[in-house]
Amino acid sequence: MKKKVLTLGLGMGLILGITMSGCGSENEEGAEGAPAGTTEQVERAEGEGESGANPFGVGPIQEEMNLPSEIDEQLAAKGEEIFKAKCTACHKIEEKYVGPPIKGVTERRRPEWIMNMILAPEKMIQQDPVAKQLVLEYNGAIMANQGLTEEEARAVLEYFRKIDTQS
Ligand code: HEC
Repeated sequence: MKKKVLTLGLGMGLILGITMSGCGSENEEGAEGAPAGTTEQVERAEGEGESGANPFGVGPIQEEMNLPSEIDEQLAAKGEEIFKAKCTACHKIEEKYVGPPIKGVTERRRPEWIMNMILAPEKMIQQDPVAKQLVLEYNGAIMANQGLTEEEARAVLEYFRKIDTQS
């Protein structure tokens, strides 16, 4: 295991090196912002399907969120309203629609990744390997940027977390 982590660490270093020698402005920051060297990060990155990918995704959220395990009901209610107004054209809770079902998303993805998908979908589907894969799975449908503020996206995330605590 230790050896594997080390190898992956090297891989990440390489990617970082390449990014930095290229145009690398924003990627560079992202890669450094995420504590790429820790075992936990590497394992999560593997879980996302690609070793070496930034597990937070691409976008404005590059700090680990450290959410409390308890759900903030008020925030979740606000998030539900926003979701119903701006997301249900393409997402259902339980079923696939234009985009993926929402149920289980907080188990599939990190909170930072979800926030970036909401706040910067155009970057995510161009640069994040998991988001790119989703575009293929959903027949080229493009997740639209709904112009949410970070606060609004956080409320929607709380609603998603609430959904995933209900079985
Ligand atoms: C125009 C249709 C459309 C709208 C509107 C839309 N989405 Fe999406 N969404 C998609 C598609 C399609 C995908 C899959 C990635 C892709 O193909 O771009 C996706 C992916 C996602 C994902 C990743 C799901 C997963 O399984 O990893 C999240 C989270 C998400 N959307 C949240 C939202 C939220 C929150 C809103 C409202 C603020 C929203 N979406 C509005 C189409 C949409």
